[in-house]
Amino acid sequence: MQQTRVVIVGAGPSGLLLAQLLRRHGIDSVVLEQRTRHYVEARIRAGLLEQGTVDLLREAGVGERMAREGLVHNGFEVAFEGRAHRIDLHGLTGSQVTVYGQTEIQRDLDHGFVDNGGDVRYGVEQVVIEGYESAHPRVSFTMDGVRQEIACDFIAGCDGFHGVCRRSIPSDAIRIYERAYPFCWLGILADVEPLSDELIYANHVRGFALCSMRSRTRSRYYIQCPVNDTIASWPDERFWDELRSRLPSAHAARLITGPAIEKAIAPLRSFVAEPMRFGRLFLVGDAAHIVPPTGAKGLNLAAADVRVLYQALVEHYRLGSDTALDEYSSRGLARVWKAMRFSGWFTMLMHQFGDDPFAHKLQLAELNYLTESPAASQSLAENYVGLKFDQST
Ligand code: APR
Ligand code: PHB
Repeated sequence: MQQTRVVIVGAGPSGLLLAQLLRRHGIDSVVLEQRTRHYVEARIRAGLLEQGTVDLLREAGVGERMAREGLVHNGFEVAFEGRAHRIDLHGLTGSQVTVYGQTEIQRDLDHGFVDNGGDVRYGVEQVVIEGYESAHPRVSFTMDGVRQEIACDFIAGCDGFHGVCRRSIPSDAIRIYERAYPFCWLGILADVEPLSDELIYANHVRGFALCSMRSRTRSRYYIQCPVNDTIASWPDERFWDELRSRLPSAHAARLITGPAIEKAIAPLRSFVAEPMRFGRLFLVGDAAHIVPPTGAKGLNLAAADVRVLYQALVEHYRLGSDTALDEYSSRGLARVWKAMRFSGWFTMLMHQFGDDPFAHKLQLAELNYLTESPAASQSLAENYVGLKFDQST
């Protein structure tokens, strides 16, 4: 039977970053991915990194292109009632965020890990995890029609929300907390100059809008839309008109439009699975938790899980100590719930929840308070840039 120290299920950002960090500490792993490398690389996802995530990517040795091409942002704007207010992230926290697409991170990890001899098996099917409550876990899978099995010390479930690892746990051993939101985000990517140097989050009676970017020449825009809408009902022109109508008029007048190179509708949900560890199985990233995208915490939370887990595994192999492994779930969940709170709050503040004028008035009062009170702005800013590790775990 094949043997490795850690079997990692899923080659998304969580799986590959974990594999890369472990390799740099001499810990071998095998990564099992159901899709092709091309499919995983082409997925378009979030793009806003906390400093802690930037630091971890650097530590993993895959931060070179990000340092060159990432856009450092010192603030962002919140727009409502026809005006925009700047939140000075750097002034309020001393920290910044970096705009660098998850697609680029995936490419950098592929280059850093896969192209340098990392063991990733793409296109595997029927992954089955076994024995994770014992000292001898095993993972079996089918590749090119052949059933194989790997013995390991630990399994990392980095297989996303729809993955097999969380689903393998008996329902009486896991508790799920979940909230769905009654709207979606319609997002488009276009090769046009971004509206502004910084991101703009807009609360409008017609619904939420977000102006983001991937580079100085590639824009990423989102609008809130009803859950049953389809892409076909949103030709480019309708999207641009709707976006303009939700922005302050000075911003709308500056908007540069162009053909969408990608367009997708995504549901919003908050989801937490507790605990995050089951014997020698650890759930990481989207496999354990999903936040609504407002505030872009998803990828950052995944990176925080990876950081805690890789350090705990290094401690296990170097010092023979399992203290950090034993704390993985409680430390992770402390951070996760704070990000759940922030993402849920920011979502509730910025979106329209049907025809409720009273609720909208309360949102506007809170937005006014948030942008006028230094204490309230600072609370928003410190969560947005990412809570410090000792604050959050
Ligand atoms: N067997 C093997 N691989 C699997 C299986 C399975 N049964 N199920 C899922 N996978 C793979 C998926 O194909 C995917 O490539 O696991 C990977 C999970 O990757 P992600 O969904 O990107 O999750 P994660 O790596 O935790 O990334 C978190 O991605 O979704 C965003 O907002 C999220 O930015 C956050 C980040
Ligand atoms: C994005 O660019 O995809 C993005 C940025 C900020 C968010 C959410 C998404 O809050």
